[in-house]
Amino acid sequence: MPNLSADNKVVYLGMGNRVALVTGANRGIGKEIARQLAERGVQVIAVGRDPIAIKRTAEELGKGVIPLVGDIRKLDQCAKLANLVGKRFDKLDILVNNAGIIGNMSATDFDLVQLHDIVDTNLFGTIQITRALWPLLGHSSDARIINISSGMGSLEDMHRGNYAAYRLSKWSLNGWSMLLSGDAPSHIAVHTMCPGWVKTDMGGPGADRSVEKGAETAIYLSLEPGLPTGKFWRDKVLIPW
Ligand SMILES: NC(=O)c1ccc[n+]([C@@H]2O[C@H](COP(=O)([O-])OP(=O)(O)OC[C@H]3O[C@@H](n4cnc5c(N)ncnc54)[C@H](OP(=O)(O)O)[C@@H]3O)[C@@H](O)[C@H]2O)c1
Repeated sequence: MPNLSADNKVVYLGMGNRVALVTGANRGIGKEIARQLAERGVQVIAVGRDPIAIKRTAEELGKGVIPLVGDIRKLDQCAKLANLVGKRFDKLDILVNNAGIIGNMSATDFDLVQLHDIVDTNLFGTIQITRALWPLLGHSSDARIINISSGMGSLEDMHRGNYAAYRLSKWSLNGWSMLLSGDAPSHIAVHTMCPGWVKTDMGGPGADRSVEKGAETAIYLSLEPGLPTGKFWRDKVLIPW
């Protein structure tokens, strides 16, 4: 367990006291990002919607991983989460916006319920949790926001159709990431990335990548010094928007 200082703030002695929060960390790519960050000595806060699942995951990951409950679609839960993080830490260095959902509607389905659900999670939910944690990110001298997007949100891939709501949500997420990188102060970098096609509940068993490979670029963007802000990455290299 991490040590507590006199004012009850966590004092973590690894990786220069870096603190990271990963959303959707109870399974899939998010869990693997949390695992690899913790392994490198970062203090990880693993966030999940299901209290039992996220507690179990944190216990499994060990190394002082702290489980917190939060649904990024719920404004009150985002505020509560940020409050809890602020009570334990002075700052947040790394925010991995990983939580996301998919659906396979085509643009001609006009399935507004699916469209709303997916955009509400992948775009508005991500903005909501980032907004809640923004003051804590502001207290870091080298803050990173890593938005887990998808190549399916790349503009040049749109004409393929299908997964319309998902594509639109990730395309919008890319746009918001670019805007945020332009408006953020210089000590907050905003990175956007595609993990590739990864074997998870979302990616399915036919995917060509392990979660370890899927998490690799997120770890790079979290820890590598001197990376440019406002770019789109896959496999640690820049890709077109
Ligand atoms: N797998 C791929 O091939 C692939 C490719 C490109 C991009 N991505 C992106 O990578 C990210 C992770 O995907 P994955 O494959 O690991 O998916 P996954 O296995 O389906 O896991 C998704 C995670 O997001 C969480 N989540 C969903 N809605 C949430 C909400 N409202 N609040 C908080 N957490 C929520 C889930 O929590 P619950 O367990 O509570 O549902 C789960 O932990 C996503 O953003 C996805 O779009 C994946």
